[in-house]
Amino acid sequence: MQGPRRKTKVLGTVLMVFFVIMVLSHHGDRGKNLNSKIRIPSKKFWGKMVPSEAYWNHQQQILDHLRNPILNSSNGTWGEKFNNSENDTVILNSCDPDHRVSTQVKDYNSLPTRFKDFLTYIRCRTYPMVVDQPQICNDDPFLLLAIKSLAPHFDRRQAIRESWGRAGRMANKTVVTVFLLGNATAVDHFPDLSEMLSYESSKHKDILQWDYRDSFFNLTIKEVLFLKWFNKSCSGAQFIFKGDDDVFVNTLHILDFLKGLSPAKAKDLFVGDVITNAGPHRDKKVKYFIPESIFVGTYPPYAGGGGYLYSGHLALRLHAATQQVTLYPIDDVYTGMCLRKLGLAPEKHKGFRTFDIEEKYRNNPCAYKSLMLVHPRTPQDMIKIWSWLNSPDLNCH
Ligand SMILES: *[C@@H]1O[C@H](CO)[C@@H](O)[C@H](O)[C@H]1NC(C)=O
Ligand SMILES: *[C@@H]1O[C@H](CO)[C@@H](O)[C@H](O)[C@H]1NC(C)=O
Ligand SMILES: *[C@@H]1O[C@H](CO)[C@@H](O)[C@H](O)[C@H]1NC(C)=O
Ligand SMILES: *[C@@H]1O[C@H](CO)[C@@H](O)[C@H](O)[C@H]1NC(C)=O
Ligand SMILES: *[C@@H]1O[C@H](CO)[C@@H](O)[C@H](O)[C@H]1NC(C)=O
Ligand SMILES: *[C@@H]1O[C@H](CO)[C@@H](O)[C@H](O)[C@H]1NC(C)=O
Ligand SMILES: *[C@@H]1O[C@H](CO)[C@@H](O)[C@H](O)[C@H]1NC(C)=O
Ligand SMILES: *[C@@H]1O[C@H](CO)[C@@H](O)[C@H](O)[C@H]1NC(C)=O
Repeated sequence: MQGPRRKTKVLGTVLMVFFVIMVLSHHGDRGKNLNSKIRIPSKKFWGKMVPSEAYWNHQQQILDHLRNPILNSSNGTWGEKFNNSENDTVILNSCDPDHRVSTQVKDYNSLPTRFKDFLTYIRCRTYPMVVDQPQICNDDPFLLLAIKSLAPHFDRRQAIRESWGRAGRMANKTVVTVFLLGNATAVDHFPDLSEMLSYESSKHKDILQWDYRDSFFNLTIKEVLFLKWFNKSCSGAQFIFKGDDDVFVNTLHILDFLKGLSPAKAKDLFVGDVITNAGPHRDKKVKYFIPESIFVGTYPPYAGGGGYLYSGHLALRLHAATQQVTLYPIDDVYTGMCLRKLGLAPEKHKGFRTFDIEEKYRNNPCAYKSLMLVHPRTPQDMIKIWSWLNSPDLNCH
């Protein structure tokens, strides 16, 4: 053994002995403390809850309060009834329009209509399902592709069926594809597509539709309803990819990735293009604008809604968590909030390219080989890229 190596070894041993002594003496202290008296606080030791001025934050406070078994106990000693909680309990899940918001939100009258619509129905989480595929997961899929679509996007759905979303056996695994739809309503000036949709649905049997207005702020409803459907009709699926209908997904690479996971890693998997240290946009012109009267604070880490991958086990836990988080008008942020409720955070994976790849690589088949997702792509792009990836001539080394 050489000099420096031996010195390191001796030093290591000395440190280890020192560490053991520290641990032992610490344990001794703990033992002594156990013998002394346990101090019980004579009065409550937490601060009084100050209701937030921001509507969402305040609703979340009420929900936290009601769901807290100590605070929401009938026992006055520990319990502390939050003002209005009686009424809020009654209407917690109500689908009646809540007109009180017009006085409870400071600048309600000057808010854009989408906020008024959102706030009026913020408590409603149940809408009737009008098209279901209750048998679609009878053979537990390895991977469920759940794609957020809009009724008029017939070509996007068809391109997905013919390319990366082809259901059946892929790389020796079962893949099931469903499209998540609300109702494209006359209020939003959509033409009546119901007959074309029912033809599509009877032909492909992969449409899930609920009767609510399919708008940007209602994407959170889509998330909650999907998790509820998953809990009821597809809970045996091992993994879920949930994303938009304008992305290209390299399903083959995703299957490879999933097959290589250890059981421990697979259990609470949640990967995507993760955004950290973000907060609400305060610029009225931005699509993601949220006024201070609705939300204050920062966002938890969340995976961009273009597409993310998670385990079926986690989906069931998320389903339960949705009951504890007030609806938020931005769906991917909402999912991040539900993950945080579970004490989890999504993990960033560089294969999720929700902001696209460099332009010079976009027509290079090999650029897609080790990616999970690229956004945005047209229906024609999807078919083109998928044929590249499946070509026996593809040689990327
Ligand atoms: C709060 O407690 C009451 C009874 O004390 C119970 O009926 C109610 O369901 C609880 N609320 C929630 C949201 O758990
Ligand atoms: C309320 O607290 C008192 C004293 O701490 C206890 O004796 C009583 O059983 C409690 N009642 C309920 C309903 O928890
Ligand atoms: C509850 O609200 C009433 C009026 O709405 C108010 O007078 C009272 O101080 C409030 N109580 C608490 C504990 O905040
Ligand atoms: C609860 O609701 C009823 C009926 O809407 C109303 O009269 C009452 O003032 C409300 N209570 C509180 C504490 O807001
Ligand atoms: C395909 O999957 C089945 C069961 O899941 C397995 O028994 C078989 O070995 C797999 N075949 C290949 C080529 O991996
Ligand atoms: C959807 O919206 C259309 C037009 O607004 C309406 O006629 C229809 O009843 C709604 N529901 C369903 C399930 O299509
Ligand atoms: C969400 O859908 C419900 C039910 O159709 C509707 O009343 C509400 O206006 C919608 N909200 C938004 C923000 O579009
Ligand atoms: C579905 O959700 C309900 C209510 O949270 C729960 O009791 C049930 O166990 C869930 N089902 C599965 C398969 O997890």
